[in-house]
Amino acid sequence: MNDMTKPALLADPEDVGTNDSNNPTFDSVLRARLSRRSLLKGSFGVAATTFFGAGLAACGGSGSDSAAASPAPSVGGEATDVPKTLKLNFNAVAKSLADALTVPAGYTATVLYRLGDPIAASVAAYKNDGTDTAASFAQRAGDHHDGMHYFGLGSDGKFSASNSDRGLLCMNHEAITPAYLHQNGVTIDGVAMSKYPSSTTATMTRTVADEVIKEMNAHGVSVIEVNRSGNSFSYKKDSAFNRRITTFTEMTLSGPAAKTPYMITAYSTDGAKTRGTINNCGNGYTPWGTYLTAEENWAGYFRRITATDNPQRTAKELASFARYGVAGNGRELWATATAADPADTSFSRWNAMKTGSSFDGSDDFRNVANTYGWIVEIDPFDPASTPKKRTALGRFAHEGAWPGPVVPGKPLVWYMGCDSRNEYIYKYVSNAVWDPADANKGMAAGDKYLDDGKLYVAKFNADGSGTWVELKFGSNNITAAYAPYAFADQADVLINTRLAADAAGATKMDRPEWGAVNPANGEVYMTLTNSNASNRTLASTDAANPRFYNDPKGSTAQKGNPNGHIIRWAENSGDVAATGFKWDVFLFGARSTADATNVNVSNLTAANDFSSPDGLWFAKSGLLWIQTDDGAYTDATNCMMLAAVPGRVGDGGRKTITNVDGASTKAVDTYVGAAPGDTNLRRFLVGPKECEITGLAETPDGKALFVNIQHPGEDTAPDFANTASFGSHWPDGGAARPRSATVVITKDDGGLVGGSLA
Ligand code: FEO
Ligand code: CA
Ligand code: CA
Ligand code: CA
Repeated sequence: MNDMTKPALLADPEDVGTNDSNNPTFDSVLRARLSRRSLLKGSFGVAATTFFGAGLAACGGSGSDSAAASPAPSVGGEATDVPKTLKLNFNAVAKSLADALTVPAGYTATVLYRLGDPIAASVAAYKNDGTDTAASFAQRAGDHHDGMHYFGLGSDGKFSASNSDRGLLCMNHEAITPAYLHQNGVTIDGVAMSKYPSSTTATMTRTVADEVIKEMNAHGVSVIEVNRSGNSFSYKKDSAFNRRITTFTEMTLSGPAAKTPYMITAYSTDGAKTRGTINNCGNGYTPWGTYLTAEENWAGYFRRITATDNPQRTAKELASFARYGVAGNGRELWATATAADPADTSFSRWNAMKTGSSFDGSDDFRNVANTYGWIVEIDPFDPASTPKKRTALGRFAHEGAWPGPVVPGKPLVWYMGCDSRNEYIYKYVSNAVWDPADANKGMAAGDKYLDDGKLYVAKFNADGSGTWVELKFGSNNITAAYAPYAFADQADVLINTRLAADAAGATKMDRPEWGAVNPANGEVYMTLTNSNASNRTLASTDAANPRFYNDPKGSTAQKGNPNGHIIRWAENSGDVAATGFKWDVFLFGARSTADATNVNVSNLTAANDFSSPDGLWFAKSGLLWIQTDDGAYTDATNCMMLAAVPGRVGDGGRKTITNVDGASTKAVDTYVGAAPGDTNLRRFLVGPKECEITGLAETPDGKALFVNIQHPGEDTAPDFANTASFGSHWPDGGAARPRSATVVITKDDGGLVGGSLA
């Protein structure tokens, strides 16, 4: 640490300027397609090729106001316009513990799509009392709304990147609040329980198969058609585009790990397909109008009783199971339900144990876990299409896949996080270069760009630089000679991405959640939601994960990095395929009252303090939305969403943080972005009780923002005889059971949501 005598790499403004000027193709695309006038008018009809739409027009500035984006040099005779800066256009909302959704004055939030809402004309309205049938859930909104994207829908029924009046909203249903799906809670061993057991035993059995079918249908993805009328949106209940993708939906395995022996199951004896997707958390999208959904905490759904199964497995299989956590009773005990038809494997396929006698797994589901943990591509414009699991993007606890700049003739990039403590940050770079003629080619474009590319993992160095290490069989220690796991081939590397990243020496991060790419300059932001004292110890703090502190909640100590931070990086020379980058920490979560030197490092105030950042999204205006999924600051506030005016990597400087744990201290040198102040960071929304704010999408004109409110009331076990006991009644109010829901937020004057150039 003490050898860091040179000025911080990141703080050199010339360096930053070089990044911009070295990216002429990126700039020229923007300038050719966007004038600042069109930005100011909110007319952004170019996303099919620029992908990031209007926010790009806010780039190019190298002004001294580090926290404000400046407009690009204008074209078309506007050269005399004075430069304008991005400004938040609302007053901060206060922290709140109310069972209500709060947005700023001058804004309206409207509930659009709730748990159980029907997506076909024949399906009845949701009764929300646990009696709605299991089968009907194949055509109802699932539970736990999460990552989401808006795709403009043209009059020809195809992707129309510019259409803000009619679109297809794709969203994930990550998980369930089991109690509220059933009349009196989940039935285990014949007993209905309103509180799902915090731990299960190997003998517990789901005795009501119908409940399990309902739960399996309540996971997955929704595709719904939405239409604007005036300043408000509704979803079209009977649209032919409406679709539910669930744990039952057949999926093709695609890319280098498909059709390999690792993927063979009784469902697919050649390893070409699998059934369903699970724990779909964050998301992504492509410039050809398809949706990417991420399989996050999939491992826990599988049942693998280690005492029985371990003796039947190879050392490599055991190493893989251990690294991914494939062990236990199965979190919802789905594998224990009994199907009416013995040939129906809908339940038994959650049993990942070796039960058959075949040599290759073609008579059981011993390999089924290998068919989960992927980025899944869905074509929302073709409701009959089969989703594809894109194995080239690696297998881990995928939070999402966020695209970078889309430039003709250049490779495409997606940034990804593995959301577990001490896991890694990845990027995938296509081998094919972008051809705008592919913008309407759907899954065929996916075959071209997502099945053939390079997968990298990130190392964050103490000097503020970073390295992308390729995860390729035969290089970077990823060989048959790697002692903890003898890799056999590239399919093995992709299926065991975490082990490959271990071998490559990746940097352990404080739970990577969402990423977002700044349309102004291609810089990448990623939330590191939090860590605890066992995973981020005082001793293991490092430059990129620099804090260890105590954030007491009442009388309970919360040590480690309970409030999280947001890291960002700039690829060298602005090249998405670069193997080096520069990074700093954009923001540190903290209570505004915490120690300003070593904990509240970003000088957060009452107007913008937050904990556990999770969702991220760059708006068309160029501002950055931040959502929280927090359990640390919940004595003071429910989860929230904030808007930030981003600066750029290097706008702050080097800082030494002194961490303390009892009598022990450790000083860590890191790189910290410029403090935002109330001007450039404000709380925009606070959600109802016990919810998480996650998932957001925007119309191409930036005038409507879709936000998901996940699992209100999930922490409190309900007493169904006393509705006042429910942890929340949002959104329906009164005595209603709580429901996850999508809301639409618009500015009452019809302006851009959150901020604009002024
Ligand atoms: Fe499902 Fe990482 O949050
Ligand atoms: Ca998340
Ligand atoms: Ca989270
Ligand atoms: Ca959640």
